[in-house]
Amino acid sequence: MITIAIVNGPNLNLLGTREPEIYGNQTFEAYFEELKTMFPQVQLQYYQSNVEGELINFLHNCMGKVNGIVLNAGAYTHTSIALADAIAAIIIPTIEVHISNVMAREDFRKTSYIAAKCVGSISGLGMMGYKLAVEYFLSQKSKVKN
Ligand code: DQA
Repeated sequence: MITIAIVNGPNLNLLGTREPEIYGNQTFEAYFEELKTMFPQVQLQYYQSNVEGELINFLHNCMGKVNGIVLNAGAYTHTSIALADAIAAIIIPTIEVHISNVMAREDFRKTSYIAAKCVGSISGLGMMGYKLAVEYFLSQKSKVKN
């Protein structure tokens, strides 16, 4: 069984009530339950923090334990060299996800420090982006290290 960690950064604990016109009405906890039902063959973990260093510590702790990471770094996407360095350091394939289409928003959201360290990026497809990222890892299962 492959293990995939879903990691959400700052303010994503407020999904469901945070700017619903942009991020929708669903809490991540409710969506995570759906994800677990969709992928019974995957060991899914979920971690959220509003603190940059805690996110980095979590990524470090994934080493040797997790096959893939789905990361929505929230606003740290656009600011954090430290998070980009952490993704490069842990050598675990990571997919960048954004619920909103960051390219269609303010200019500062068009810069991602983490994108170049990730396998790929999904943006603007709502919560479905997380599901698509897990599907990608499953499709690559034979290449994913155990
Ligand atoms: C986000 C987009 C970021 O620009 C923003 O800071 C977030 C959420 C998204 O999922 O669309 O917090 O990552």
